[in-house]
Amino acid sequence: MTHRILVIPGDGIGAEVMPHVLRVLETLDLELSFETGELGGVAIDKLGTPLPTPTLESARASDAVLLGAVGGPKWDDLPMEHRPEKGLLGLRAGLDAFANLRPAMLYAPLADASSLRPELVAGLDILIVRELTGGIYFGEPRGVENDNGRRRGFNTDEYTEDEIERIARVAFDLADKRKGRLTSVDKANVLEVTQLWRDVVTEVHADFPNIELDHLYVDNAAMQLVRAPKQFDVIVTGNLFGDILSDAAAMLTGSLGMLPSASLNAEGQGIYEPVHGSAPDIAGQNMANPLATILSAAMMLRYSLGEAEAANRVESAVNTVLEEGNRTADIMPAGGADGLRKVGTDAMADAVIAAL
Ligand code: IPM
Ligand code: MG
Repeated sequence: MTHRILVIPGDGIGAEVMPHVLRVLETLDLELSFETGELGGVAIDKLGTPLPTPTLESARASDAVLLGAVGGPKWDDLPMEHRPEKGLLGLRAGLDAFANLRPAMLYAPLADASSLRPELVAGLDILIVRELTGGIYFGEPRGVENDNGRRRGFNTDEYTEDEIERIARVAFDLADKRKGRLTSVDKANVLEVTQLWRDVVTEVHADFPNIELDHLYVDNAAMQLVRAPKQFDVIVTGNLFGDILSDAAAMLTGSLGMLPSASLNAEGQGIYEPVHGSAPDIAGQNMANPLATILSAAMMLRYSLGEAEAANRVESAVNTVLEEGNRTADIMPAGGADGLRKVGTDAMADAVIAAL
């Protein structure tokens, strides 16, 4: 069976990295068919909209979407509705990709690249499960209004019981396949919507008696994440808190340039993208770390294409290239180090292919 993949290179380093990631996938000897779609700034420039209809239609007809990144300063002054990020949010919503899995794993050779001491992060393996199609990102009403000549901005944080329940079930299931511990993050001491979050997660827990559940307020969770991150196994939280905590978790592993993600819907279709953005400051300089997108492709093989063995091969190839000392600028210690070799985007992808 041929797997249908919609490839969306997007903007900045997304577009730069993607050809290299496709080279890696082509090495695997699988039946993959690739189509290309436009999204974000490049779609605005060519077609006048951040999410062209054909892109969403191809996404719906594909087994998986492999995405680079969207956005850049060129489009930052556009009204909110027309920004590249709206295209990304529309794609997530259009596929109902509500379950965003963001694993933060420390590759042993990168222990020194973390902002924390090596002993605090050695063996780190956290999975953040972020609700991706609800919460304050999508709530209405929203906007900036004129209030007697002074402006007033507002957004709405809202979750239905059903939205909370379905993401909680995904998180409990994943905890069951891992160490059996789930931490739900909210701000139930202040925000009603997250009191409901806590109540519903607690109710769903009744169906997963073998999982150890605890609840943390988001401020405490942020603190614990940088104090003693290894206490966590799976973290489940809403859209906004998940956005913030996943960047923090990324840094624990050495670099945002290492973190993949999967965004799944109930049918197992998924959008696979690095957690990092389009990094316009380094785009086009052969500096970007392609590993986050390569690892996202590995997640795609595992979660949407049923090719777990190929996924394992890619992940162990990544470990090999790091052990060999290959480092893009983001994971190179300042001043360098013995046995490490500074490489560009292309050479890092070449090393992965060689390892495969
Ligand atoms: C992410 C990004 C996006 C988000 C932006 C680009 C809209 O920060 O995937 O974490 O906030 O979800
Ligand atoms: Mg983010």
